[in-house]
Amino acid sequence: MSDPPIITAEALVKSFGSTVALAGVDLEVERGTVLGLLGRNGAGKTTLVRILSTLLAPDVGHARIAGADVVRDAQTVRSRIGLAGQFAAVDETLTGRENLELVGRLYGLGRREARARAGEVLDRLTLATAADRLVLTYSGGMRRRLDLGASLIGRPLVLIMDEPTTGLDPGTRIELWKFIDELVREGTTLLLTTQYLEEADRLADRIAVIERGRMIATGSPSELKQRVGGDVLEVRSANFGDLDRLVTLLSGLGSGPPVADVRGQRVTLPVSDRVSTLFAAARRIEESSIEIDDLSLRRPSLDDVFLALTSPGRPAESGTPTSPRNGHSAYERVVA
Ligand SMILES: Nc1ncnc2c1ncn2[C@@H]1O[C@H](COP(=O)(O)OP(=O)(O)OP(=O)(O)O)[C@@H](O)[C@H]1O
Ligand SMILES: [Mg+2]
Repeated sequence: MSDPPIITAEALVKSFGSTVALAGVDLEVERGTVLGLLGRNGAGKTTLVRILSTLLAPDVGHARIAGADVVRDAQTVRSRIGLAGQFAAVDETLTGRENLELVGRLYGLGRREARARAGEVLDRLTLATAADRLVLTYSGGMRRRLDLGASLIGRPLVLIMDEPTTGLDPGTRIELWKFIDELVREGTTLLLTTQYLEEADRLADRIAVIERGRMIATGSPSELKQRVGGDVLEVRSANFGDLDRLVTLLSGLGSGPPVADVRGQRVTLPVSDRVSTLFAAARRIEESSIEIDDLSLRRPSLDDVFLALTSPGRPAESGTPTSPRNGHSAYERVVA
């Protein structure tokens, strides 16, 4: 590939008072690919998205979209990107169609063109039947789809989506994934943030993991999984109270330390020697009085990668998901 990356960021730093949201972030995204930006609450995902979409200036560092600097050539950048923010930015007192036409007009389209594109986008996002209802009456999923639609009106070269499927039901999420596939097939470059590892696995060509304002890993989903090394032995405990004992029991058996996943009531262990480790683990469990529900060997998932990469005892500072600080208005989205 001789094309230069369509998105580049170099040494981005951004602080809010004493909170360092980005502590020197580098990033490259190749044209026509999907980058999944993964990180826990407060990791810095939205801050990076806002810098790349010209809504926020970095304290230090540079970023470019298709060669245009996000600070010096903000206007050019805005004409090339579409942004679907973390919180749907649609006007409730207008209909779906009116919202999209408004955004089209803000992009500088003529009335007729804005109407045509709005109709096209409503069809694609299967909102046509609700197009002339006030957004007030839309469900959460419909609002998100409309918001996504608004980001597509300008036919962007680069689409930036901040947690596009958070809060959507599984059916709607799968619909949206299919739609994203189509956009990528048509050549759109996509940067999406997500907290769903399954989503990153399904959509992303490359994944960047951000933790406390720093990129701690990048690679394709399979490269990242290989970092866990070999396979994963998973033991599901029948009793919640036995997790610690299981960790002790399995210590030293695998190619790395066992990790307890409290929510999943399970312990996972990276293994390189599949069968002998499985036997040894089964024997130890049998000799103990620990009751288990399941014992299995599987390929590593991105969950395992994430658990292994992010230090468990030191949670990232959490953001407040409902705070309006991340909200984008329809006006912020396009050329001001
Ligand atoms: N406008 C702001 N004022 C003050 N602090 C902010 C502001 N924006 C972000 N922060 C802080 O910067 C850090 C990174 O926030 P950011 O919103 O980028 O995280 P995130 O990865 O998007 O989190 P989430 O998954 O919760 O959306 C957090 O500690 C957050 O509280
Ligand atoms: Mg965010």
